[in-house]
Amino acid sequence: SCFNEEYRPQFHFTPENNWMNDPNGLVYHDGVYHMFYQYNPNGNTWGYMSWGHAISTDLVQWKHLPIALECEVDSNGNVMEMFFSGSAVVDVNNTSGLAVSIGKDRNGKDIFSQPMVAIYTSTYPTAHTASNGHVIRQGQQSQSIAFSNDNGLTWTKYNGNPIIPSPPPDYADQYNQFRDPFVFWHTPTLKWIMVLTLAMKQIILIYSSNNLKDWTLESQFGPYNARFGEWECPSLFPLYVDDNTAAEKWIILIGINPGGVIAGSGTQSIIGSFDGKTFVADPSDVYDPAKVPCGSTVFQDFEATSSTFEDLGWTGTGDFVGSGPRKASTVNGGKVKGYLGNGIMTTYLFGNIGTGTIASPKFTISKDYISFLIAGGYYPYNPATAGTPEDKQVSITLVVDGKVVHSQTGTNTETLVWRSWNVAGWIGQEAYLIITDVNTGPSAHLHIDEIVFSDIPKDEANWNDFGPDYYAAATYNGLPTSERTVIGWMNNWAYANSIPTSTWRSAMSIPRKLALKTIDNKVRLVQQPVSSLSTLYTSSLYSRNFSVLECGETKVNVPAPYNTRMKVALKFTRGAGIKFGVILCSNASNTQETVIGYDFLGQNIFVDRFKSGNSSFVDSEQNAFPGYFIATMPTKSTDVIELNILLDWSSVEVFDGKGQVAITSQIFPLDHGAADVKLFSEGGSTRSVSVSILGINSIWK
Ligand code: FRU
Repeated sequence: SCFNEEYRPQFHFTPENNWMNDPNGLVYHDGVYHMFYQYNPNGNTWGYMSWGHAISTDLVQWKHLPIALECEVDSNGNVMEMFFSGSAVVDVNNTSGLAVSIGKDRNGKDIFSQPMVAIYTSTYPTAHTASNGHVIRQGQQSQSIAFSNDNGLTWTKYNGNPIIPSPPPDYADQYNQFRDPFVFWHTPTLKWIMVLTLAMKQIILIYSSNNLKDWTLESQFGPYNARFGEWECPSLFPLYVDDNTAAEKWIILIGINPGGVIAGSGTQSIIGSFDGKTFVADPSDVYDPAKVPCGSTVFQDFEATSSTFEDLGWTGTGDFVGSGPRKASTVNGGKVKGYLGNGIMTTYLFGNIGTGTIASPKFTISKDYISFLIAGGYYPYNPATAGTPEDKQVSITLVVDGKVVHSQTGTNTETLVWRSWNVAGWIGQEAYLIITDVNTGPSAHLHIDEIVFSDIPKDEANWNDFGPDYYAAATYNGLPTSERTVIGWMNNWAYANSIPTSTWRSAMSIPRKLALKTIDNKVRLVQQPVSSLSTLYTSSLYSRNFSVLECGETKVNVPAPYNTRMKVALKFTRGAGIKFGVILCSNASNTQETVIGYDFLGQNIFVDRFKSGNSSFVDSEQNAFPGYFIATMPTKSTDVIELNILLDWSSVEVFDGKGQVAITSQIFPLDHGAADVKLFSEGGSTRSVSVSILGINSIWK
């Protein structure tokens, strides 16, 4: 490949070919940043999970290396072991005993290597007895290690694998949802620490070890804050508050899927403390989904005298007539009662809905968020006949003005979960929800309780990125605390397997440096692209100050090829207008455009990819790609607001000046000739506008 195919990121990491997901084993050693990643050596969709490998000396230019850990397939073609996500450390003190002699010193004593050790999840799709006698169940996920004495080029699996075969006894039934170990050296206790998840339970388990082989369970954390989906890919690390090395706090990052900030995949962070055994969240960092919104406008009120869905105004092809207990009848004395808006729409979609689709009554979007409580599962749920709970998929879709604007297809568990969708772009419009039983098979039931509208401040959810495409964020081992660096997978499980790229699929985010900053009396996790990105910047392509930018659009001339890969820096202050920002990858009539800006009324940064280009690659009934994503960031009318935007061939990443919020979003412009750049001020003027645009050179030579 010349790395110039349609949509090939020009300054973000991609594998040359094939599918990629999570970054794994990020470790800095001897001047080299290693990045391993979830990789399918055999194709362009998820499967045959292996660890790909790349290295960099600056986190910007990458060199592809051979596959580090390759999925094992037996002679009949059965996949025996997949290498799921995990981390890597360099065992400088040879605590593991895995070092080898690499020569003799002057006194004839052995010089030992410093083994690089990868700690990963072995996923075993096939039941078997391993050569070391371990009896492996079908679907088992266990923790294993492999080591390299040549800086990650070649790897040997430890012969005692798996080192943690199963979850602790209390969670024995979670043996196939136990994954993604992140390991680091904890200097105060002189121990290795591992965090990993019981994905379906939204629990992080914390283990310690002296030798990377024998692990002791120390504590567990969670469920906590966002818990709408599976928890995956945890990370635990310290940061200094405001660069004060005496004020250290610990941060947990957790991937959650589905249940991200938009739908699908997302990354949440929790700030707290860690003593080598237990993580304790700061009290101020609690976001309790159970306390999500008290609603506002009552726009519909109804009470049904019998417990049928028709009485609630639900329509569709599904079979509403299931038998069995209806939650509503217990709650409301035999009546199904519901009201939308200020409180509850209590319905209970129940029965064998097969491939049915059921639509809610119409309602009007009244606030920035629609939130609802959902629960579901098989009915009856019988593991013996009905397979595993995650086989059953139900989707929930929000339709506004005839268009799908949000959709989640989820595995259907018995857990009550809150789901919040940002609907700020459609206030005042008519909407309805659709529930679809996606796959046939055993009966599914699903109920939606408590539909409420609210304007929840988004930062209470502690999202690490407010866009749809930042997941499985992992941080580097081997760097000082003040240089903690994170990379996310720039994709979303809701549509990852079908994004329109070939012959590779998925890119990594720009590496970002993390810090804690006190802003408005609150300690916040902040992030900025690594400073070495500036080595790719061209000299200024456009730089201008407007004391007043009038209402309307102002075209800016950015020469090709940089109009498709550039950094746009904006500074501005509120004027009479209500929105200000930049339109990218647009054509003259704006039928194609990606709009990024600040909403002075909504007090948020937004990315609008509704008209960004191709979105037909996803089944619109299931997973909406188009969207309007916001990150709340309150400002005063005199503030100088700063936005820094990175545009690549298939993504935008937006950071505010302080790094409090980031929005990462893929885009797939269709009309490549149309790559206009336009400043806009909406509803009036914007003051003290300063614009600076730099091109970004390609990292692929
Ligand atoms: C997250 C994830 C991990 C798992 C890996 C498998 O994206 O689901 O939990 O280890 O992907 O590829």
